[in-house]
Amino acid sequence: MPETAPQRARIAVFVSGRGSNMAALLYTSRLDDAPYEIALVASNDPGAEALALAEAEGIATFALSHKGMTREAHDAAMEDAARKVGADHIALAGYMRILTPDFVKRWEGRMLNIHPSLLPKYTGLDTHARAIAAGDTHGGVSVHLVTEDLDAGEVLGQIAVAIRPNETAESLAERVRFAEHQLYPRVLARHVARPYDAGWLLDRVRDLALALPQTHERESHGSPGWRVGTEKSGKYFAYFSDQHHGTPHISLLVKCGGMDELEALVEDQPHAYHKPAYYGASGWLGVILNRPGVDWDAVAERLHRSWQAVAPKSAMRSMDAADQF
Ligand code: GAR
Repeated sequence: MPETAPQRARIAVFVSGRGSNMAALLYTSRLDDAPYEIALVASNDPGAEALALAEAEGIATFALSHKGMTREAHDAAMEDAARKVGADHIALAGYMRILTPDFVKRWEGRMLNIHPSLLPKYTGLDTHARAIAAGDTHGGVSVHLVTEDLDAGEVLGQIAVAIRPNETAESLAERVRFAEHQLYPRVLARHVARPYDAGWLLDRVRDLALALPQTHERESHGSPGWRVGTEKSGKYFAYFSDQHHGTPHISLLVKCGGMDELEALVEDQPHAYHKPAYYGASGWLGVILNRPGVDWDAVAERLHRSWQAVAPKSAMRSMDAADQF
């Protein structure tokens, strides 16, 4: 876990059955460098073996049968249980329910699923039998982000498992299970650590900065920076600062409305803003990125305002034109 990660991510695991993947996630979370902890195991089947295991391990559980409930009401109860324990991610581990679109949307980028095939092949059920019947050389397992479409979100990791002669769906499933238990904890760990990873943060900032008109990237004193205007006479509107001058922060430096605004933001929201060494004196605000719950729309807005503060008229005109669409 990077030094700057303030706390472990809190994971709610949703299960319907045996819970061997839940167990893999749980035991990995007990390694001292794990970047996540299991805050809850929740199930739509009160008799699920996974719940008994979680209880024995001292993990909070929640069980609610979906029978006789609308999908919306059941999802809402499961979500409520996750929120009550302060979960910031949900890991579906053999949770055999289709989720409502609103629920999925609220957890976009923060809900993962494990699926026993090499996606995009064989979404849905009977994946091993279908891989064998198709004559595939390999089956396997994928961990992906959950989106509205079944088993169709971004694949975060996969392991292929060879299909042997005379393979049955059962024998393949058993071997794939070994692969599942290796894959899920690692992919989840990598995913929750991403918001503290300088490379990942830089890529996001770069995409936002270069989406503004007439911009280009130029390094300044070893830091990536973005300018608006021509290569020759452009002006900097943003810098990326990775733990410079002894601060623990990875931050985006932008021009703000002036020293008063800068000082007020830093005083009122010290978890979100800081006054960077050297740059702060000339009105550059540090927007802290390596923390939980960064609002990326607000980051984009700050970049936009900083860009406006230094952009030449020609660039402003192209922005105005774009705004009319
Ligand atoms: C796992 O094989 C998982 O890939 C699969 O359910 C099993 C759960 O086992 N998930 C799906 O099929 C989702 N569509 P477990 O309860 O022992 O973890």
